[in-house]
This record gives sequence, structure tokens and C-alpha cells, in this order.
Amino acid sequence: PRTVSLAVIPGDGIGPEVIAEALKVVRAAAPEGVTFDTTEYPFGAAHFIATGEILSDENIDSLKQHDAILLGAVGGDPRDARLTGGIIERGLLLKLRFALDHYVNLRPTALFPGIQSPLREPGLVDFVVVREGTEGPYVGNGGGIRIDTPAEVANEVSVNTAFGVERLVRFGFATAQSRPAKKLTLVHKTNVLVHAGGLWQRIVNRVALEFPDVAVDYQHVDAATIHLVTNPSRFDTIVTDNLFGDILTDLAAAISGGIGLAASGNINPDGTFPSMFEPVHGSAPDIAGQQLADPTAAILSVALLFDHLGLADAAARVRAAVSVDLAARGDSARSTAAIGDAIAGAL
Ligand code: NAD
Ligand code: IPM
Ligand code: MN
Repeated sequence: PRTVSLAVIPGDGIGPEVIAEALKVVRAAAPEGVTFDTTEYPFGAAHFIATGEILSDENIDSLKQHDAILLGAVGGDPRDARLTGGIIERGLLLKLRFALDHYVNLRPTALFPGIQSPLREPGLVDFVVVREGTEGPYVGNGGGIRIDTPAEVANEVSVNTAFGVERLVRFGFATAQSRPAKKLTLVHKTNVLVHAGGLWQRIVNRVALEFPDVAVDYQHVDAATIHLVTNPSRFDTIVTDNLFGDILTDLAAAISGGIGLAASGNINPDGTFPSMFEPVHGSAPDIAGQQLADPTAAILSVALLFDHLGLADAAARVRAAVSVDLAARGDSARSTAAIGDAIAGAL
């Protein structure tokens, strides 16, 4: 018998709605002898407004005690003056990715059978974005002078270390090697961002020598958006920095059936800290509280959680149940809970 200690952060907006369904799937798909012991944490915009607390060092220490974390979405009403400047996104979500050293942000994309892509002829859509998670322009290395004057200067510096890029690139190559197509595409902007781009390209070239069976190519990020729309089957494993990966994965979601299906894992491959699984989407204030959210992204994030825990069979069962449910979806809209019940019921 094995007990997995799972921290759950439902968060804001549609976060609690989709997490309720994801937890049904955790319970329904857990293999014989594996028990999930869940602890819910209240963090998010609503908790901040009620208590003034976002995420303390003690909170982080508590989260570190768990085997893994499942997160819904965080972020409140963007018009709320108390929440400007991404105070929750940076103080909670990014803080966790940094504190728990989630240097791999793993975002797979697949077009499930029966799903209507907005692309007329999508072809094979089956790739994974290996997005860097702890560096780039996300680290808060910036500043401004003469703020709110006509002479304002604002800097947002992208930090790229050889250590950080190499460990991510290595994970990318290992990922590519484990997949049938064995192809890695570095996406960057080496024609403009020469310092960071040069570092990424040199590290990819060097690590490639250790993975001779992986084919390697490169695309500028602007051109990559063209090819994701015109010929997504050219991609297998995309390795890219934190910001490019953020943007490309919303596009990847859009071509593969929508943001309601896109799953992600914030992975600490070394196992020093718990990894965190969450849908790619946000708190969707426009549809929150109405049972309109698709919980599939959160449910597919549970499959990534199972993979990470070494429960590959359970992960495969979840994907199979999702696949059957997606194939049977007609035009009639179902509630968040109805979709979760159908998938959990099939399991
Ligand atoms: P969003 O992903 O919340 O919403 C974008 C659009 O997709 C909206 O129209 C929304 O209704 C729709 N959508 C999202 N998830 C859906 C689902 N499961 N089913 C059906 N439709 C869905 O992005 P946004 O509007 O840019 O951000 C809203 C808030 O969420 C902001 O505060 C933002 O900072 C935050 N955010 C949080 C996370 C996170 O917690 N990981 C990720 C992205 C954005
Ligand atoms: C995501 C989100 C986050 C990001 C925001 C909310 C900080 O967009 O997980 O994709 O930019 O990484
Ligand atoms: Mn995003």
C-alpha cells in the first residue's frame, strides 16, 4: 500500500469548479493499493482579499511536505484595484514555481479523435512544449525611472543562466528521445535577442551531441506561430524559454480543441520539491460560478500527475476515458460537473 500526500489549491474563479471534477478522477483512477491523502489550501485572490495573506514562507514549507500539488487557477477580477500588477499571479503562482524549482513547465498538445480543430486540415497534432519555468523575463529583474512621465524608461530583463538553460535543454532531449518522432525544435529569437538566443543555441548544439538519435532544428518564435497554424505536424518536442513557452502553449491549446483541454505540469525533475499540476488556463472570471468551465484540462493534468508519480497505467486510463468522452461530445453543452461525472464514472 502507498499513500500519496496531495496538496490541493483550488484557487479562484473556475479553479474550484474544475478541481472538484479533477479530484473525482483522482479517486476513480487511483490504482489498487494507492490512496490519495488530500489537503486543501485556500490560497488565491479571494483569500488575499479576505486575509491579506498571499503565500508566506511557512505556507511554502507546508506545501513542501506533500508529494505533489494540484492547482486550479488563481487570479481575480482584473478590474479590482486591490489586485493590480499581477500581485496574485506573481506572489502565488510564480513564487511557487520558483520556490519549488519547477524548472520544467511541461505542456503536451494532442488533437483527440473527434475534436474539431479550428484548422481546416490540422494533420497530426501531437507535440509537447518543454517550457523553461524559473528564468527568463519572469524573474522580476526589472525596474523603471521617471515613472508615469513622458520620459519614463521601463526595463524587464530576461535572465538566462547556463545552468538553467542546460538542465531544461537536457530534459527536452530526454523527452524527445522518449517519443516516437524523436525530434527537437528550439524556438527562440536568436536574430534579435542575441545574448540569450546565443546561449540557448550553443547549449542545444552541445547537448545534441549526446543524443545522436534526436533530430534537431530551430525556428524563430514568430515563424513558429505560422507553422503551428499551417503545419503543426512538423513539431514533436519544442524547447523554449519561459515567455515564448507561455504564448506558444495558448496557441497550441487553441489549435487542439481549446484552452479547456490543455494540461500542464510544473516539474522539479530532481524530486527535491513537489511538482505541481494545473490546467494551462486561468480563472476565467467571465464564466466563473456558472458550471460552464470545461474540467478536461484539469483532468488531463491529473494524468500528468499520475505519470509523475510513476502511475503510468492510471495516467493512460484517464487519457482513454477523456478520449472516449471527447469523441462522444456533441453540440449540446454539459455542465462542468456533468463532464467530470461522465469521465470519473467511466473510470
Ligand atoms: P483565462 O485562461 O482565464 O481565460 C481566457 C478565455 O478562455 C476566457 O474566455 C475563458 O472563459 C476561457 N476559458 C478558460 N478556461 C476555460 C475552461 N476550462 N473552459 C471553458 N473556457 C475556458 O485567461 P485570462 O482571461 O487571460 O486570465 C484570467 C485570470 O486568470 C487573470 O487573473 C490571469 O492572470 C489568471 N491566470 C491564471 C493562470 C493560472 O492560475 N495558472 C493562468 C492564466 C491566467
Ligand atoms: C500560465 C499563466 C501564467 C504564466 C501567469 C498567470 C503568471 O499564463 O500558467 O500560462 O504566465 O506562466
Ligand atoms: Mn499562460
